[in-house]
Amino acid sequence: MLILGTASLSPCVSFPPSPKFPHPNPNLNHFLLSHPSFTPISLHPIQFPSRSKRLLSPNAPNFIVAASAKAEPLKVIISGAPASGKGTQCELITQKYGLVHISAGDLLRAEVAAASENGKLAKEYMEKEQLVPNEIVVMMVKERLLQLDSQQKGWLLDGYPRSSSQAAGLEDYGIRPDVFILLDVSEDILVERVVGRRLDPLTGKIYHLVYSPPKNDEIASRLTQRFDDTEEKVKLRLCTHHENVDDVLSVYKDITVKVNGNLTKENVFAQIDAALTHVVEQRKMNSRSVAA
Ligand code: AP5
Repeated sequence: MLILGTASLSPCVSFPPSPKFPHPNPNLNHFLLSHPSFTPISLHPIQFPSRSKRLLSPNAPNFIVAASAKAEPLKVIISGAPASGKGTQCELITQKYGLVHISAGDLLRAEVAAASENGKLAKEYMEKEQLVPNEIVVMMVKERLLQLDSQQKGWLLDGYPRSSSQAAGLEDYGIRPDVFILLDVSEDILVERVVGRRLDPLTGKIYHLVYSPPKNDEIASRLTQRFDDTEEKVKLRLCTHHENVDDVLSVYKDITVKVNGNLTKENVFAQIDAALTHVVEQRKMNSRSVAA
């Protein structure tokens, strides 16, 4: 198992979890312990609370309660070591759930490309495989989270927070996710993924020369490699990750779902999808209860 420093965190459950290590959030725990045969609808049949029935006239249709209940948009943080597959999973999650993908790394790379003052400073740290100072990152991410599209569609935050002070930066603004997904990947696989990663500058799509090769020569000819995608550099990024990961996990331990990220991207997504489906169903149930 992994050398990410997460294994010792007892509140962080494996996926699927064991009854020995129940999830601290009873709602998620109910779901996690029932995986893989989990079917959200059958586990949580939609029942109107008795109080709502009393409020409705005998002829009133049941859908009145459901129609008045609207869950808030979903808020998700995805975390994991460098090259654990965060960006790859974000593509699949946004396709299905329509969330706004906010990648701290992408926001920083955009600043670097624009040669802004922040970008010039960020570049120095990124080249050393260190965290960019909070003065730059925290406001940048907060501002993006508070934009209208993120508020309306919900958000999927990738690569942030990476330290307890960054987590505090969100908590101070009352910004808290519904679920914190942790991709758990062994170190040898991380290195293999970094070295083979390629990016399509035209579409932003992530490829891997072995696991996710481009479909034709035209795409293959325009692929680029990130400057930090070498074995030597990823090992430095891993050190930075190990130094901070436990602090971040402690902030979100009650909503953490640990996913086995060593599998194929489809199998990793299946675990994430099951967890998100459960959260969505749970929130619908809660909204109905409030509306009733
Ligand atoms: P960032 O860009 O966030 O890099 P990272 O965390 O190192 O993560 P990566 O983008 O490298 O990997 P990923 O997990 O998205 O994996 P991917 O899906 O691409 O950050 C870069 C730098 O910016 C940091 O070092 C830091 O300096 C700075 N920074 C960022 N956030 C910051 C913050 N909050 N505070 C301060 N500084 C910050 O997958 C990798 C490869 O594997 C791909 O080729 C993919 O095709 C393949 N792959 C993915 N999943 C699978 C699978 N299941 N099976 C087989 N192959 C797979």
